[in-house]
Amino acid sequence: RTGRIVVVGSNMVDLITYVTVMPAPGETVEAPEFEIGCGGKGANQAIAAARLGSRVGMVTKVGDDLFGDNTLRNFAENGIDTTHVKKVAGKSSGVAPIFVEPSGENSILIVKGANAELSPADVDAAADMLRKADLILMQLEIPLETVRHTLRRAAEWGVRTILNPAPASADLDVSDLRSLSFLVPNESELALLSGLPTGTEEEIATAARSLIAQGVGTVIVTLGARGARLVTADAVTTIEAVKVKPVDTTGAGDAFIGSFAHFLAATGDVETALNRAARYAAQSVGRRGTQKSYASAEEFETFCEALSASAS
Ligand code: RIB
Ligand code: NA
Repeated sequence: RTGRIVVVGSNMVDLITYVTVMPAPGETVEAPEFEIGCGGKGANQAIAAARLGSRVGMVTKVGDDLFGDNTLRNFAENGIDTTHVKKVAGKSSGVAPIFVEPSGENSILIVKGANAELSPADVDAAADMLRKADLILMQLEIPLETVRHTLRRAAEWGVRTILNPAPASADLDVSDLRSLSFLVPNESELALLSGLPTGTEEEIATAARSLIAQGVGTVIVTLGARGARLVTADAVTTIEAVKVKPVDTTGAGDAFIGSFAHFLAATGDVETALNRAARYAAQSVGRRGTQKSYASAEEFETFCEALSASAS
């Protein structure tokens, strides 16, 4: 069964420089390589789900430039429904200059461009698509009022929602999230939202539960190389990370969330979906680029077979 997933979120063009050292202020250094690719948290999550076989629609805005045309083409090539992708006259597309260090670690700047124009009215215009979805996915690279509006509408329609509160925003309040089905923060986003420390396993569980006590359905805390924790009112389940040699971690979190949405819609089981998502994200960490590093369903099967062969 293939799920129907709609992302209300951003798209960006990633300008990725692979550096040997980051320049200090006032300094000029040479970097060995550069790549340009499609990114943006919303689009990344959409592409991951689509590559795995979900039917995916995107509600987003692109700029009136070459990047916007390229992004539209990229959506179409990946089978994403672009009925509700609008071009904004006189605006640039979202862009993200990214620097990847030899360790695979990255630093990212984002310029939202047209993404900053995605409004509650755009969500209403896409109501027909959204109300038929199995899951609606959001992040925080679009205006917060649009996220809040989408959550309210989804609750009216009875559609389950996933919010990845990234990049972290101090303006997001837990009272906005009363009807949210799944919140997927990292440790610092969880700390900001709960106002509690998240330095230890116990603190992470307590912070996540404080959000659940205020109405959030389920909290999935992503911990990078330490895996993830699935927190409900009465249990914490560890989702083990899959070890790979990191090449480029850019977009690994998006690979995890987009594939989680796909596997959840496909299997109906949260824990199964998360364990598969951890593998899908690991595969992307071993490859360069953002969306470029997201495997197809077939490549993912091959990766999983290799993993279980090396384990036995
Ligand atoms: O999460 C990774 C993404 O964050 C990149 O693709 C970049 O576009 C920024 O939005
Ligand atoms: Na990658």
